[in-house]
Amino acid sequence: MPRVKSLHVNGRAHRLDVDAGRSLLSVLREELELTGAKYGCGEGQCGACTVLVDGVAVRSCVTHAGAVAGKRITTIEGLEQNGRLHPLQEAFLATDALQCGYCTPGMIMAGAALLRKKPDPSEAEIVAGLNGNICRCGTYPRIVQAVRLAAKAGGGRARD
Ligand code: FES
Ligand code: FES
Repeated sequence: MPRVKSLHVNGRAHRLDVDAGRSLLSVLREELELTGAKYGCGEGQCGACTVLVDGVAVRSCVTHAGAVAGKRITTIEGLEQNGRLHPLQEAFLATDALQCGYCTPGMIMAGAALLRKKPDPSEAEIVAGLNGNICRCGTYPRIVQAVRLAAKAGGGRARD
């Protein structure tokens, strides 16, 4: 099985040595100690593990490390810039859009991917954009509100 020796995560290259067939989620969490992306279903069904790959939302539990070698990976830890939270992170706090918080990193990363494509999404577009990201605490209305607030704050222009 081929090995992956480097991954570009949150703006820099990380040296490692992992099986190319290993999930990106386990590499992020166990090799790079980036534990923001969460393990929920492990089957691509809940969105808790969502990260960005070249700006596109990807379910890292079903993505092999070998498939993203050489690509630009962004996790929730990479959203803040110079000590300032991303507008989506600010908006989730401002609207209290989390309860247990388990789904939150995935929701925010899915929101970041959405705002890249649609900087000013309608409510229907937000619902469609986050469709498939599951919140077992049922905070969906506040999550939609948070994405709207982040859009107003220019979240689509922020680095992701
Ligand atoms: S843990 Fe990846 S989609 Fe559920
Ligand atoms: S806040 Fe608990 S799963 Fe969403």
